[in-house]
Amino acid sequence: MNSSFSVTERQAIRRSIRQQRNQLSRSFRQQASRHLLRSLRQSPSFAFSKRIAVYLTNDAEIDTAVLLKDLQQRQRHIFLPVLHPLRKGHLSFIRYQRTTRMSRNRFGISEPDFRHSKSVSARFISLICMPLVAFDEQGNRLGMGGGFYDRTLAFMHQPGPRPALIGLAYELQKQPALPCEPWDIPLAAVATEKRLYQIR
Ligand SMILES: Nc1ncnc2c1ncn2[C@@H]1O[C@H](COP(=O)(O)OP(=O)(O)OP(=O)(O)O)[C@@H](O)[C@H]1O
Ligand SMILES: [Mg+2]
Repeated sequence: MNSSFSVTERQAIRRSIRQQRNQLSRSFRQQASRHLLRSLRQSPSFAFSKRIAVYLTNDAEIDTAVLLKDLQQRQRHIFLPVLHPLRKGHLSFIRYQRTTRMSRNRFGISEPDFRHSKSVSARFISLICMPLVAFDEQGNRLGMGGGFYDRTLAFMHQPGPRPALIGLAYELQKQPALPCEPWDIPLAAVATEKRLYQIR
């Protein structure tokens, strides 16, 4: 834990990493998408979870295309995050299948259409593969700054069933140590194109 980092410092880290991530070549991204799956296969949660939430790649995040195909082939139930229309700043999750109706949310991100599908709370997902901007080997995570995942997962502070949280990232997003705030929900593991970091 380190609360001495300011908001400005968190923003500076985000800016710098997003810039580096934007410069990765197409061929590197494609190869990383395949290697990401190899790293994820090292995780017992990945092997045993039936209901898995993933994201559709946005803002040059590590590409989930190969992962999605693998999950479909192994007949896992895939869920995608959607902005909750009523609970401001929270995410909900909707099953993603070939027939799922999609629409663009206010950030321009493609998500299942809330009006046409049943949504479930994060509590009922066994594994959530989360996008991130930066991570460290202690499991600290910096997202895009909206607090969406942190708000949605705040229940993890309480006892009860909870999903496993694995961050997906390029190796270049790893920081030696990250500023972490009391509301930040830590990760159990991070998978990159190089390896799986198991936190505890
Ligand atoms: N559980 C929570 N309840 C209320 N506000 C929260 C909660 N979690 C985060 N926030 C607010 O969200 C804002 C952004 O949080 P933070 O900088 O940690 O975002 P992030 O982790 O980068 O985003 P995300 O969670 O979407 O990946 C903070 O100003 C914080 O006050
Ligand atoms: Mg946070």
